[in-house]
Amino acid sequence: MSAFYGEREDRESLAIGNTKMQSYRFKQFGNLENLALHQEDMPVPQAREVLVRVRATSLNYRDLAIMNGQYTLPSSPGHIPLSDAAGEVIQIGQRVERFKVGDRVVNTFMPRWFGGAFQASARDELYGSNRDGWLTEYKVVSEESLLSLPDYLSFEQGATLPCAAVTAWAALNGDRPVKAGETVLTLGSGGVSLFAIQLAKIMGARVIATTSSEAKAAQLKALGADEVISYVQHPEWSQEVLRLTCGQGVNRVIEVGGPGTLNQSIHSIGIGGELALIGFVAQDAEAINFFSLFKSAARFRVISVGSREDFEQMNRALVQHKIMPVIDSVFPFAEAKQAWQRFDSRLHTGKIVISH
Ligand SMILES: NC(=O)c1ccc[n+]([C@@H]2O[C@H](COP(=O)([O-])OP(=O)(O)OC[C@H]3O[C@@H](n4cnc5c(N)ncnc54)[C@H](OP(=O)(O)O)[C@@H]3O)[C@@H](O)[C@H]2O)c1
Repeated sequence: MSAFYGEREDRESLAIGNTKMQSYRFKQFGNLENLALHQEDMPVPQAREVLVRVRATSLNYRDLAIMNGQYTLPSSPGHIPLSDAAGEVIQIGQRVERFKVGDRVVNTFMPRWFGGAFQASARDELYGSNRDGWLTEYKVVSEESLLSLPDYLSFEQGATLPCAAVTAWAALNGDRPVKAGETVLTLGSGGVSLFAIQLAKIMGARVIATTSSEAKAAQLKALGADEVISYVQHPEWSQEVLRLTCGQGVNRVIEVGGPGTLNQSIHSIGIGGELALIGFVAQDAEAINFFSLFKSAARFRVISVGSREDFEQMNRALVQHKIMPVIDSVFPFAEAKQAWQRFDSRLHTGKIVISH
């Protein structure tokens, strides 16, 4: 590890004045063999742009899906992967007002969704799928696509926020934020669900979580979950949710499972509750029962990560409560492929980070 940090210092001293940098790119999708390191020209910031020395990135489920050619939105090979990063501004273009050299920053998932309702056009620019992402040493972006990284977080911790944490925040908030005393159901121990547990607790909610193993159940409890249900022991886990809520059901489901969990989630929701539809980690599709859907009187809200405004609001809450992102492992930039392998092993609990 110390050798690695030594190497970083060498690179640091070369930062400005460098004309070359290293970036990973998928030359085609299918497997990790296609991910290769390239030497490229350093970009130069233009007006209202900044040059970021990327210090850390993190992986999300979508990065596996993109590699496997299973991402639900258009993606083409050749791009630099990864959507989430934290770094340091090392050069600014003309008329930059939001940042100065030396500022610690974190990026937004959708570089042009600043606030208000989601617009489909925000999907036209998605890092790692249809435009270059962050698995690179240096990157030029619009100053508007960055936020200040809260002081109490390291670059590695900051890099976990743009997708998973903002998604969890958006799912718990929206036009009907979770109220203190309400019950939130989270599914599994993925990145979104772990942040959802932490954030729901600071909002004063009771959290019921599901997971697959006893070891993970203990970790979820340590993070703040009030009750944990094994979805392996209880395939009909909605019955446990109803038992724990005296038959009332929960007020919100953080629905990351999709086809394989939606029926159980519908059975778990209380009258007038909200299902925040986020993902599809559970693929074993079961037909949706129209009458359980109808009787639930629930609201369905599809989440598209969140805007810069959502991220700013979340950061205020993080700072107030000093929430520490759960990190499973950190890999050096040179070993980025191992980060994908760790993610693919499904053995992790918490975010997988690459330190640049
Ligand atoms: N719509 C959006 O804006 C948005 C944003 C972010 C993510 N997503 C999507 O949300 C999903 C979660 O993303 P992520 O990055 O948090 O994923 P992740 O970290 O890869 O989540 C993996 C976890 O999912 C859990 N899981 C797998 N099968 C399950 C099942 N049948 N029931 C309950 N949990 C199950 C497992 O937890 P246990 O081992 O504890 O069971 C596993 O550790 C993905 O589909 C992703 O694409 C969508």
